Amino acid sequence: MTKAKLSLLLILLVMNACGHKDAGTGDIALGAAESCSFTSTKDNSSLAIKVVASDTAEAKEFLATCQNPYTKLYAKDAEAAKVGKKQFSYNGCSGCHGGNANGLMGPSLIDAKWQYAKHITDKGMFETIAGGSNGSPPEWGSMLTWHNQLPGKTGEGLDTDTILKIMAWLRTQYIGGGETPWLN
Ligand code: HEC
Repeated sequence: MTKAKLSLLLILLVMNACGHKDAGTGDIALGAAESCSFTSTKDNSSLAIKVVASDTAEAKEFLATCQNPYTKLYAKDAEAAKVGKKQFSYNGCSGCHGGNANGLMGPSLIDAKWQYAKHITDKGMFETIAGGSNGSPPEWGSMLTWHNQLPGKTGEGLDTDTILKIMAWLRTQYIGGGETPWLN
């Protein structure tokens, strides 16, 4: 085979491979977009939270990677973070956790004392807000279920994006010192 023919063959092969990839992106993207699997803080069962048509790009990214894309954004942009604070108040989180999330009849969400160690990760905190908890230690009650795709949700529930915005704002308010792994 001449060099010219070999190059042409290579180009055709590459084009062919690209073509196949494009044809399959629908399925591939959907599969990849749901690769973060969530575990209930109540009983370790799996929380069936799926990508839905109305999800934002940020929600899709989180459901694929388990990393909240708003966290680093809000850390740099106090103005953007206000959206998260607004949702925190609007949805009544402040009623139990205080207007500044520093605790009331529910625990502080901005100190280093976590009810469950996993709350230092985006995935872990999301699991407790989305699916609720059973209460631990007993001096606090349990957390409600908030995700709109889960049975037993509070009212209409919240979508993935809203929970992520609230979480990202909470991280900006953190005053517990030490490691801040959610910014890594
Ligand atoms: C009716 C009261 C109540 C409301 C309303 C409420 N929470 Fe909670 N929340 C709790 C209690 C009680 C706990 C402790 C649960 C446990 O220890 O199992 C908790 C725990 C948490 C935790 C983990 C705290 C930690 O220190 O590890 C987060 C995060 C959280 N709530 C976020 C929210 C958000 C966000 C909202 C609004 C969407 C909300 N909560 C609304 C009562 C409430």
